[in-house]
Amino acid sequence: MKKLYIKTYGCQMNVYDSARMADLLAPLGFTPVDDAASADMVILNTCHIREKAAEKVYSELGRLKKLKERRPMLIAVAGCVAQAEGAEMIARQPAVDIVVGPQSYHRLPEMIAQIARGTGHALETDFPARDKFDALPEEAAPQGVIAFLTVQEGCDKFCTFCVVPYTRGAEYSRPVTDIEDEARRLVDSGAREITLLGQNVNAYRGLGPDGKRWSLAQLIRHLARLEDLARLRYTTSHPRDMTNDLIAAHADEPKLMPFLHLPVQSGSNGILAAMNRNHTADEYLHLVERIRAANPDVALSSDFIVGFPGETEADFAATLSLVREVKFSQAFSFKYSPRPGTPAATMKQVPEPVKKERLAILQAVLTEQQRAFNRACEGRMMPVLFESEGRKRGQATGRSPYLQPVHVESASHLIGEISEVRIETVLTNSLRGSLAQSHAARPAQNEARAL
Ligand code: SAH
Ligand code: SF4
Ligand code: F3S
Repeated sequence: MKKLYIKTYGCQMNVYDSARMADLLAPLGFTPVDDAASADMVILNTCHIREKAAEKVYSELGRLKKLKERRPMLIAVAGCVAQAEGAEMIARQPAVDIVVGPQSYHRLPEMIAQIARGTGHALETDFPARDKFDALPEEAAPQGVIAFLTVQEGCDKFCTFCVVPYTRGAEYSRPVTDIEDEARRLVDSGAREITLLGQNVNAYRGLGPDGKRWSLAQLIRHLARLEDLARLRYTTSHPRDMTNDLIAAHADEPKLMPFLHLPVQSGSNGILAAMNRNHTADEYLHLVERIRAANPDVALSSDFIVGFPGETEADFAATLSLVREVKFSQAFSFKYSPRPGTPAATMKQVPEPVKKERLAILQAVLTEQQRAFNRACEGRMMPVLFESEGRKRGQATGRSPYLQPVHVESASHLIGEISEVRIETVLTNSLRGSLAQSHAARPAQNEARAL
C-alpha cells in the first residue's frame, strides 16, 4: 500500500478535483493519508487567484523538499498555479516531479509511470476538459452527506482582474446524463445534498438526453427527481447568467435551497466597467429584486474586491451603498491582487494602505450584516441536514437551508437526516439549537414549504 497526501487550496472545484485525483490513483494502490510526513506521494492542488495563494505553494514546496531529502517521495503540483507556471515550477523548485494542470490530471497514472521509468520530470498543461471527464473513473470514494459535483468548467468572461480563464480554459459543460449518473452514485453512497459546481455554473449549457442544450435550471429540476436527494445548491454564479428559468426554480423547486452566492465585486459602475463585468450596479440591484420577488426567503452572498485599479473614495462609497441596500447573509471580500498576464495588473494601482483600510471598513459592514441575518434566525424553527459529529459527544453539526452551520446536542444519531431544529444561540459564523419535539426526519419535499 502506498500513501497519498493531497493538500487542497482555493475553490470548491479544487476540492472536487482532489477527490477525483484520489479516485484515479486508488487502483494504483494509493490510499489517502492526512499528513505529508509519511506519504509516498504528495499532491499540492493549487490556487492562483491571488498572489498570497500562489506564494503559499512555494513555501509548502520548500517544506516538502526537506522531507524528500530524508525519504523517497513523489511531489506533484496540480491546479491553477501548475497551469499558470508550467515548467517554471520545476525550474524554481527542482524537487517537484510532476506538474499537471486542472484539465489534464486524468493523465496522472501515465505521468507516474513515466517518472518510474526514470525519465525525469513530467509536465501536462493541456486543456482537454472533455477528455478529462471521459477518462475519470466511475468508482469514487463516498463524499458523505454533503457532496460536490462539477458540472461546468472554465470561463469565457475575462474579467480584467481574473486568472481563471487562463488557468481553467474555455467554458465547458458536461452532458446531463453523465452528471445524472454521477449524482445517482453520490446519492447511493449517502449524499443527501449536492452542490453543483462551476466557475460560471449558471452559464451551464450541457447536452441533454433530447439532443438539445439544457440550462442549469433544467438540470436542477431533472436532478431534483432523484428521490433520496433532499437538497440542491449551485455555485458560483455570474449576475449576467441569472436567467428567468433559474430565478423561477428558486420559487417552485422545493429541493433548491434558498441561498445564492452571486458575486458583484463592486457597487461602482465605473469600476464594474473597468472590471469587464458587463453589468451596472442598478442592474444587479434589479436582479436581486427579481430574485426576492420570486422567493423572498432567498439569502444572498457575494464576493467583493476593494482597491481595484482606479478605485476612488466615491467608487468605494458606491460599493458600501450597494451592500447596505442588498443586506447579504454572508460575503467574501478581498484586496485587489495584481495577477500576471491579466489586463488590470498593468493599470494604475491603488496604494496598499488604502486597500487595507477599505477592506477593514467593508468587512465591518459585511460582518454586521451576517450577524443581523443570524440574529433574525434566533427562535426560528429550521430544517437542518445533519452532516457530521460535533466536537462534544452526541453533538452533531448540520447545515441550515441558508448554509449556516448548526450545532445540536444529542443529535449524532440523525446524521444524514433532515430534522426540525429550534435555533437558540446565534454566533457570527454558526448557530446552536435543539431538536424539535418530533425527532423524525421530514420528507424532503416539505422542507422548503416548512420555512
Ligand atoms: N466566477 C466567479 C468568481 C471566481 S474567483 C465570478 O465571476 O464571480 C472568486 C473570487 O475571487 C472572485 O469573485 C473575486 O472576488 C476574487 N478574485 C478574483 N481575482 C482576484 C484578484 N485578482 N484579486 C482579488 N480578488 C480576486
Ligand atoms: Fe473570473 Fe470573471 Fe470568469 Fe468569474 S466570471 S471566473 S471573476 S473571469
Ligand atoms: Fe483558485 Fe483556480 Fe479555483 S485559481 S479559485 S483554484 S479556479
